[in-house]
Amino acid sequence: MNRTWWKESVVYQIYPRSFQDSNGDGIGDIPGIISRLDYLQQLGVDVIWLSPVYESPNDDNGYDISHYQKIMDDFGTLADWEMLLDGLHQRKMRLIMDLVVNHSSDEHAWFVESRKSKDNPYRDFYIWRDGKDNKEPNNWSSIFSGSSWQLDEETDQYYLHLFSKKQPDLNWEHEPLRHKVYDMMTWWLDKGVDGFRMDVINLISKVEGLPDAAGDLKYNSGGEYFMNGPRIHEYLQEMNQEVLSKYDIMTVGETPGVSPEEAALYVGEDRKELNMVFQFELMDIDAGPGGKWNVTPWTLKEFKRIMSKWQTELYGKGWNSLYLNNHDQPRMVSRFGNDKKYRKESAKMLATLLHTLQGTPYIYQGEELGMTNVKFDSIDDYQDIETLNMFKEYREMGFSEADIMKSIHSKGRDNARTPMQWDATTHGGFTTGTPWLTVNPNYSDINAEEAVNDSESIYHYYRSLIALRKQYDVIVYGEYKLLLQENERIYSYTRTLGDERLLVVLNFFEEPVQFELPETVMYGSFERLIGNYDAPEAVEPHSLQLRPYEAIVYKLNNTSN
Ligand code: NOJ
Repeated sequence: MNRTWWKESVVYQIYPRSFQDSNGDGIGDIPGIISRLDYLQQLGVDVIWLSPVYESPNDDNGYDISHYQKIMDDFGTLADWEMLLDGLHQRKMRLIMDLVVNHSSDEHAWFVESRKSKDNPYRDFYIWRDGKDNKEPNNWSSIFSGSSWQLDEETDQYYLHLFSKKQPDLNWEHEPLRHKVYDMMTWWLDKGVDGFRMDVINLISKVEGLPDAAGDLKYNSGGEYFMNGPRIHEYLQEMNQEVLSKYDIMTVGETPGVSPEEAALYVGEDRKELNMVFQFELMDIDAGPGGKWNVTPWTLKEFKRIMSKWQTELYGKGWNSLYLNNHDQPRMVSRFGNDKKYRKESAKMLATLLHTLQGTPYIYQGEELGMTNVKFDSIDDYQDIETLNMFKEYREMGFSEADIMKSIHSKGRDNARTPMQWDATTHGGFTTGTPWLTVNPNYSDINAEEAVNDSESIYHYYRSLIALRKQYDVIVYGEYKLLLQENERIYSYTRTLGDERLLVVLNFFEEPVQFELPETVMYGSFERLIGNYDAPEAVEPHSLQLRPYEAIVYKLNNTSN
C-alpha cells in the first residue's frame, strides 16, 4: 500500500456554528475558529474538516448552499477564511472543505433561474418532472420526511429534493452543471484548500425514469434508485481527471448505504476516484426495523463484525476512514460508552479503538472532551430540521410525545450540535450572547479549560494517542486481525507490519472481565504503549483482569531482546 500524508493524518471536524462565537451574536464564526487554532495544534491533529461555511439561508445549517464561492455573513468574510487557511498552514495543518453538490439551496441563483420557465438555460441544472395522476412524479420519501417532490406553481412541474424542499437536487446528467461544479472546486483548490469531504456523494446519479420505490407507505425510501446509481463512478472519474488529480489533496466521500465491496469501487487505489469514504454500517447498528428513530440495543459482537469486515475487506485495496460520531450522530460516549459513572474511562476506551484501527481517524469537536448527548425537555429547544420534521410526522402518526422525545434524546442530531464547551463561564465560554442552540448544562464539569489543566483528562489521552500514531508505522499501516471473535464483552485485535506487532485489548462494558490471550499470538517481550488506567509496566498481556472500560495497547516483540 502506498504511503501518503492523508493516511498518516488525524482529522478534526469543526461544525462552525457551534465551535466558537467571536462577536456575541450567539453563532460560531471563522474568527472564533482562528482564536482556537493553538488549542487544535496542541491537540496534535493534522487536518481540519470544516463543515459548510458558504452563503446559505440555513434551512439545514449550511448544507443548503446559495452561493458556493461566498462565505455566510454569520460566519465572517472571505478575508477571514483566508486568514484561517493561512493560520492552519503556518501551523503545518491542512484544511478540507465540505463539498455539497448533490443539491444546492433553492435560493441559489441557478435554481432561481431554473424555476422561472421550462426553457430557461438553467432548467436542466435541476430535476423537473410532470406530476402523475395529479400527484407527485413518484413515491419517494424525503430523508427529512414527506415526499421528495415539490410542486412549483410557476411552471406546474415538480422538482426533486431528497432532503428538504429548500434543497433541490442538482442534475448531474447535465454536463454543463458538472463543469460548473468542477470550476467551483478548482477555484477553492487554487485558493489553497487541501481537499474535500463530499456530502452524500453516492446519491448524485439517479436511475433513469426515476421508478416508484418498493414499499406500501405513502412515501418510500427509493434508495435503490439513487444510492450508487448507474453513472456514479463515471462522474467521479471525470471529476478526478478534471480536478482532483491535479492537486496533492485528500478526499473523503460521505456514502450512506455503501458496503465494503462497493466502497472498494470508490476508493480502490487504481480507480482514480476518492481516497476514502465514510461507511454507515456502524451508525445503523442501533436502528430497528422502523429505521433510525426506532432505537434498539446493539451488541458488541455485531459491532466487531461490522468493523472487522471493513478492516479486512478493504485492506490492500483502498483506505478506511474511522469515526464514531459527527454532526449528524449522537455523541460517541453516550451511544457506545457510559456518559455517567465511567464517562472518562469509556471515552478513552473508544478513543483507543478509533486511533488503533486501520484507517484515518476523524475526531468530532468536543469528542476529545468527552462531551455527551443532551436531554432538552421540550421540542421547542431543538433546532435541527430533521428532528423537527420527524416530531411533526410522528405526532401525526399517533406516537406519544414522550416516546418521540426519548428517540430524540438518543438519536437526534442536536446532541452533537450543542456548542463547544470551552470553560465553566456562562454558556461554556462559547458566546457572550444567547447561543443559537442551548449549551449542554454539564459544561461546568465538562469543558476544555478543565481538560487541558488535568493531565489525566480525555483530552490529554487523545494527545497521547495522536502522538503514538506518529511514532509507530504499524498503527497506520499494519494488518488487522480480530481475536476472540465470539467474546461478548471484549474487543481485541492485533495489527501487524513486518516485525512490528500491536495488541489492543478493550473492555467495552462496566463489569470487570478476564482476558486470555489466544495461544496463537506469540511474543518474546512486550511493551505497554498506552492504557486508560494506571498499571505497572510489567503486567504480562497473556492474562489480564480488565477493569470497567479498560483499554490497553501493547507492542509485542518477537524475541526477548
Ligand atoms: C449529510 C450531512 O452531513 C447532513 O448534515 C445534511 O443534512 C445532509 N447530508 C444533506 O446535505
